[in-house]
Amino acid sequence: MDLSPGVILSYLKTHPNLETMSSARLIDGKAISAQIHSETKARTQALKERHGIIPGITFVRVGEDPASRAYVRMKGAKAEELGIHSDTVVLDEATSQAELLALIDKLNRDPKVHGILVQAPLPKHIREDEIFSAIDYRKDVDGFHPVNVGKLLLGQNPLFKPCTPAGVHELLIRTGVSISGAEVVILGRGNIVGKPMAAILLQKDKHADATVTLLHSRSKDIAGHCRRADILIAAMGQARFVKAGMVKPGAVVIDVGVNRIDDPQAKNGYRLVGDVDFEAVSQVAGAITPNPGGVGPMTIAMLLSNTARAAELAVKA
Ligand code: GUN
Repeated sequence: MDLSPGVILSYLKTHPNLETMSSARLIDGKAISAQIHSETKARTQALKERHGIIPGITFVRVGEDPASRAYVRMKGAKAEELGIHSDTVVLDEATSQAELLALIDKLNRDPKVHGILVQAPLPKHIREDEIFSAIDYRKDVDGFHPVNVGKLLLGQNPLFKPCTPAGVHELLIRTGVSISGAEVVILGRGNIVGKPMAAILLQKDKHADATVTLLHSRSKDIAGHCRRADILIAAMGQARFVKAGMVKPGAVVIDVGVNRIDDPQAKNGYRLVGDVDFEAVSQVAGAITPNPGGVGPMTIAMLLSNTARAAELAVKA
């Protein structure tokens, strides 16, 4: 092949976008979650061999939200693969808050149950915050109990960190992204991802120490903030919101979003897309998570790692 400068220049003239096009490195959440799963499996084997303990998690689902059904099914199947016993309690949509609290009280007192996960969203008549506060904080594998959230913010080693932001943090650490001193911009201030993500990355720690900006629906100049980010984390739940023009060349882009969009071609009439316009952004970013296959598998990995930890703590107690 003739790759002399003259030939390359004439090729570039006929392909004007080529100079600026490059493909970002893919951050492989499937491969990294598989590593974490194998570590968790080794821990569950050690618990069984040394202490005769099988870690147990109970999922509670209220109503028949299709996404929640799928998530709980996937989490339960993976748990069993790793030597974690899992039970799922399905309650009717009309279940009262008092009934749900009574179930949590029973699970709190059951020594075979090391972790409890009440799948959100819950029906409108149930106060999610009261439910998460009622779970014994030592069984709070979701990391949503105020004691664990408070300790996370204070930098006091919470027993458990929320699974999705903890998974994003692991992705960054295990792909060698430098976080210390980095400009991190997080889109979305939800309790499940945005707020705990900020709390994790701003701690005084060699794997944190970032300068964190948290953007939300009332923020001004969102694109301008995003363009300053070395690490951009999209978790606001709007399909393909992050466009190529909002990303600094070479930045690390993490897509947490799971959004349904209509797709007449698809079997069920919809498909899932992230908060990032992947095709365009991957031409500008230095590294990017695919979606699916990026953050999603990490959430499950952190949940099951948390469950092994809950059982390890119960042994020590
Ligand atoms: N709904 C969406 N994400 C989560 C999660 O991490 N935990 C629970 N319990 N519900 C969710």
